[in-house]
Amino acid sequence: MEQKIILTGIRPTGKLHLGHYFGAIQNWVKLQDEYNSHFEIADVQALTDNFDNPKKVRENVREIAIDLLSCGIDPNKSTLFIQSMIPEIAELTVYYSNLVTMARLYRNPTVKTEIGQKKAIFGNSGESVTYGFVGYPVSQAADITAFEGECVPVGEDQLPLIEQCREIVRKFNSIYGETLKEPVAVLSDNKRIKGLDGNEKMGKSLGNAIYLADTEDEIKNKVMSAVTDPKKIKKDDPANPKVCMVYYYHKLIKNDNINTVCSECKNGTRGCVACKKELITKMMEFLKPIQDKRKYYEQHLDEVDQILISGTNNARAKAKATMKKVRKSMQIDYYEE
Ligand code: TRP
Repeated sequence: MEQKIILTGIRPTGKLHLGHYFGAIQNWVKLQDEYNSHFEIADVQALTDNFDNPKKVRENVREIAIDLLSCGIDPNKSTLFIQSMIPEIAELTVYYSNLVTMARLYRNPTVKTEIGQKKAIFGNSGESVTYGFVGYPVSQAADITAFEGECVPVGEDQLPLIEQCREIVRKFNSIYGETLKEPVAVLSDNKRIKGLDGNEKMGKSLGNAIYLADTEDEIKNKVMSAVTDPKKIKKDDPANPKVCMVYYYHKLIKNDNINTVCSECKNGTRGCVACKKELITKMMEFLKPIQDKRKYYEQHLDEVDQILISGTNNARAKAKATMKKVRKSMQIDYYEE
């Protein structure tokens, strides 16, 4: 039986952290076995709000590739590619831009929220929001459909973008004839990962991220300042693990000693410092296989480049085939064989 096509992407704006891992990447690694998976390093999209910092985007393309490979994205099973190396996506974006109104883009909840969050870039009035930024859902629709993506694994925040993609596909097909596939979003089971500081979200900008590449010292500093039950004052006070971020992380990384952690915390037989030390050890154990692989790829950068080149070639062939159909439907297939 033919495998269904998956397309999803990630913006190369920084190294991966545990929020990415548990919120998305772990799921991508599983999906590779059941789907014809395509993972896009979305550098063009990253430039929509980092156009003035090309160095950052460029450096992170390789970092993200190394992170993804270290987490178990397997180039023998999946296609890993760089968005900017597929000009067909940009071409498709232009054609789609006629099918989307400005009003609809401004109403997209994801775009709305992000414009709000980017006051530092766009200013309070939003007057300096760029055309490219407001239009990134159109470009993302091209990302998905250029590869005839059927399933799009994403987090909840991305659902409005997938919905907008579906609308574009329906409009395209109704005007130019049945050509494109309408994708569906696949929500990952592990939603948002909280920060050790108790924040609802882990994020680079929130300053609470634990990176997959963090050293033991970095992990130590982060874990030692984690938020625990504020009612616990003395080492042997009983506490409530439900309100403790250290317990949350013991659970997250699946500490096999979790039942003891829980009962000792409740009984007051476990001090927070000891509990944090155990978390540091277990966290390093959890990260070790990923970090070992990272070390390997850092010493074999040629291999990383080869994976990206061949993944991109493979992806580009697929996008070219889609564009043939698109141009034919739009009656702009001049002199094509
Ligand atoms: N917008 C997505 C994010 O910020 C990344 C992305 C780019 C993407 N292209 C995509 C996701 C295509 C799904 C499909 O997380």
